[in-house]
Amino acid sequence: MKLERNGACWCGSQKKYKFCHMKMDEKISKFQRDGHIVPTRKIIKNEEQIQGIRESGKVNIAILDYIGEKICAGMSTEEIDRMVVEKTEQFGGIPAPLGFEGYLKSVCTSIDEVVCHGIPSEDRLLKDGDIINVDVSTIYQGYFSDSSRMFCIGNVPDEKRKLVDVTKECVELGLAQVKPWGFLGDMGQAVHDHAKANGYSVVKEIGGHGVGLEFHEDPWISYRTRKGTDMLMVPGMIFTIEPMVNMGSDAIEIDEADGWTVTTKDGLPSAQWEYMVLVTEQGHEVLAY
Ligand code: MF3
Ligand code: CO
Repeated sequence: MKLERNGACWCGSQKKYKFCHMKMDEKISKFQRDGHIVPTRKIIKNEEQIQGIRESGKVNIAILDYIGEKICAGMSTEEIDRMVVEKTEQFGGIPAPLGFEGYLKSVCTSIDEVVCHGIPSEDRLLKDGDIINVDVSTIYQGYFSDSSRMFCIGNVPDEKRKLVDVTKECVELGLAQVKPWGFLGDMGQAVHDHAKANGYSVVKEIGGHGVGLEFHEDPWISYRTRKGTDMLMVPGMIFTIEPMVNMGSDAIEIDEADGWTVTTKDGLPSAQWEYMVLVTEQGHEVLAY
């Protein structure tokens, strides 16, 4: 459909198309003609939506800050779940994981060889030397946010601490590649190269995702892509950078009994950090970490 220059923009801003997304659309079309994968309109957010998602992100950040203050050896992962529920409610939000595709808890807690989607449990107590990913996702006034951090419990061996640190560096190097008219593959390669340079591997099967109006939106985000490939990044896109970095091989297994818990096949530790990022006109803005 050809949009009228003077008609309302498709993004819902109520601005005239020519003063809103017209120039951007022309640019996107050019990349598409050149054979690149380009985003659909559905995943490009307008200002009002961005503001809502930004507020949701602030709640997510505050919840993770709180967990960071409280987390310690001896605490069960169920206790982390309870804290997430309590804090989320205090802020007027809803934990996005609860009930998502049958998930029965409000946060994911993944320790050591657990790659992701660890289910909080009264029986799993944090102990000295553990590394844990706490993955928090919030619905706030209808908008979704998603981010996760690693926490080192007590005296963590250098080898594991390095995995945690390098994984964060991977995300930050990926983030530096997030700018309009670049490609998701620029980000993906930056993440992967740094992991590999440190002798680690990056999980293939599970990646990041668009986020904001729903918990998991298009595009699916891989960290095994190459520079100049994959989807074009344009202002208004919001997605997560959340690589799972394994100390050993990239092979993973999913627990058959619970259907969720992902572990490394070799039993070696895995780390993950998740940032939620907005592509802006100038570069990017981190909406949650
Ligand atoms: N928070 C995870 C992510 O980063 C998704 C977890 S799905 C859940 O994408 F159901 F376990 F919450
Ligand atoms: Co995510």
